[in-house]
Amino acid sequence: MQTRKITFGFSEHWQAIQLRNEFLREPIGFPFLKDFPAEEKDWPHFVIMDDTDNIIGCVVAIKKNKTCVRLRQMVIHEKFQNQGVGRVLLNYAEKELQQAGLETIIVHARKDAAGFYRKTGYKQDGQEFMEVSIPHFAMIKSIGTAK
Ligand SMILES: CC(C)(COP(=O)(O)OP(=O)(O)OC[C@H]1O[C@@H](n2cnc3c(N)ncnc32)[C@H](O)[C@@H]1OP(=O)(O)O)[C@@H](O)C(=O)NCCC(=O)NCCS
Repeated sequence: MQTRKITFGFSEHWQAIQLRNEFLREPIGFPFLKDFPAEEKDWPHFVIMDDTDNIIGCVVAIKKNKTCVRLRQMVIHEKFQNQGVGRVLLNYAEKELQQAGLETIIVHARKDAAGFYRKTGYKQDGQEFMEVSIPHFAMIKSIGTAK
């Protein structure tokens, strides 16, 4: 397996969008259709690939301010879930973001996935809320400063 940061608008980005469509967006009725989402142009995309270079997981980072970033649309292909792949991808994204000078990460975790973020060091920040008709928790992690 290999982790990588990918570039907006390239074929790998489209592969990541298909993964997000299949496992995150189509089930709730909001698939991306045929265009790259323009609002993602300046956001880093981190992916993990299997041994044949297929993208099997991705996560997108949106900068909130100089030191804080929000991770969103984290997904691992169903076939690879619960095998430690999500943890590897998240660790990679956190390290890259730390090296880029970010200090705090927030996520809006789907309630069903909150256990994954707890296991990877995120703390609940506030009460449950609804987003896209799904219960979520805001969660936060300090990644400190790059050495
Ligand atoms: C949530 C998700 C990204 C986790 O990735 P993963 O590769 O399955 O997770 P890992 O195998 O790396 O798990 C790391 C740890 O978290 C735990 N974990 C994983 N998913 C969990 C869940 N949904 N609830 C509770 N714990 C979970 C694992 O048991 C493991 O614990 P351990 O270290 O004690 O063994 C993945 O399951 C997924 O894509 N789910 C569907 C989409 C989704 O809900 N995305 C999140 C949107 S906020």
